Amino acid sequence: MSKLLQINSSLFTDQGQSTQLADLFVKGYSEKHPGTEVNTLDLSSNPLPHLDGERFTAFITPAEERSDSQKAIVAESDKLIAELREASAVVFALPMYNFGIPSVLKSYIDHIARAGETFKYTENGPVGLVDDKPVYIFAARGGAYLGTDKDTQTGYMKTFLAFIGLTNVQFVYAEGLNMGEESKAESLKNAREQVAQLLK
Ligand SMILES: Cc1cc2nc3c(=O)[nH]c(=O)nc-3n(C[C@H](O)[C@H](O)[C@H](O)COP(=O)(O)O)c2cc1C
Repeated sequence: MSKLLQINSSLFTDQGQSTQLADLFVKGYSEKHPGTEVNTLDLSSNPLPHLDGERFTAFITPAEERSDSQKAIVAESDKLIAELREASAVVFALPMYNFGIPSVLKSYIDHIARAGETFKYTENGPVGLVDDKPVYIFAARGGAYLGTDKDTQTGYMKTFLAFIGLTNVQFVYAEGLNMGEESKAESLKNAREQVAQLLK
């Protein structure tokens, strides 16, 4: 049975353009694979704290030496990693805010990047410890940056996901959403067509 992990980060929650595209994909995927379980994380409504010294120290303290508060911090991270491991595919709704990924998504990433859990360092460089699985990313942007240096998201997401072992990553982009109604309508239509292609 398929298990989808859908990770949303739009500050407009369900109404975000990235969320709506991800939802469209998840609906189609669930129809194609009856019995699919969907676990949705809304990082905007339920943000994780920033990774600070206290939290990082909890991560790197040996399990038997952790205080109760450190155990609680690690348990939160362990749960996120377990959800990632259990998923047969991962879906990210990815808005662009101020030329980057949403800060709530960065906090999520900071909580799943754990040495010895999701990656390890070796003499030949880092090795991802998460079993590879398809990742689908639905990116929404006011401007149009694909193929330019201003697309700070594509390379970053691919680099981070590969670092933990996820190399099978596909993107759907809705760009130019703040460049007039015509541009927006055209872009969303195009993105929906890309979703349909992915589901074929
Ligand atoms: C706080 C904020 C910052 C934004 N910064 C950018 C930006 O740097 N570049 C851009 O192309 N669009 C920017 N936008 C437009 C969003 O990318 C656009 O609204 C997109 O639909 C966001 O995805 P969402 O609808 O899923 O939240 C910004 C929007 C907001 C609300």
